[in-house]
Amino acid sequence: QKEIHEQPVVLKDTLEGRVTGNSILLESFGANSADMFNQVEHVQIVACGTSFNAGMVAKYWCESLAKVSCDIEIASEFRYRPFVTRANSLLITISQSGETADTLAALRLAKEKGYMAAMTICNVPGSSLVRESDFAFMTRAGAEVGVASTKAFTTQRASLLMFVTAMGKQKGTIDLAKEAEIVKSLNELPVQLENALTSNAVIESLAEDFADKHHSLFLGRGEFFPIAVEAALKLKEISYIHAEAYAAGELKHGPLALI
Ligand code: F6R
Repeated sequence: QKEIHEQPVVLKDTLEGRVTGNSILLESFGANSADMFNQVEHVQIVACGTSFNAGMVAKYWCESLAKVSCDIEIASEFRYRPFVTRANSLLITISQSGETADTLAALRLAKEKGYMAAMTICNVPGSSLVRESDFAFMTRAGAEVGVASTKAFTTQRASLLMFVTAMGKQKGTIDLAKEAEIVKSLNELPVQLENALTSNAVIESLAEDFADKHHSLFLGRGEFFPIAVEAALKLKEISYIHAEAYAAGELKHGPLALI
């Protein structure tokens, strides 16, 4: 609960000094990021758990906003299979801790296999992922002690949206008006989060209707599909209720049998 309620503040921290006026500062991504953004033709994201779910949202944004092809894979799959490295591909690792063994192994492997560069979206300065990556963008969520990741997930998505926007602007696929619209929406987020957090009482009363259920399905389409996946993960971790997520259109292709 404490970390959930820290979201408006940590999100402000994540935006601080990286967003000015109507734009996102390219320098926030490190020296040489302009050259790197110019060269990149493909983005490969690897991560685990909640960080993977944040990355899945970014895949939708990367292709729809920046028009850069993007793949995402669970780090423990990526590291144990032979894969083909795409030309001018940027590897992105996402991690709260910066120490997740599978994600770190994936980064080390990608460096051997000729990825153009590696960037990490990470919450812990000085962590292994930060030290071993060419570029590091810190999420500034503060220490996350709760086993269920909450505020880190929020700041990861804000960071990924800033990354996609900066890359698209540099490549000319995102114009000034679109950038201004994204910056405005990012700046509005802390207040929207504060408002959402005032719904506690309503959520508690709704929860009473669901408390005796043993199974749940979360559905979502587009960038909300990964949100459904994350919601199912959170319900499992916090309540021990069986939860699964499906892309909304998949409901009719099997899971409906359960209803
Ligand atoms: C879920 C959760 C885990 C982590 C996963 C990756 O609430 O916390 O799924 O997201 O273990 O950890 P990091 O982000 O530290 O690499």
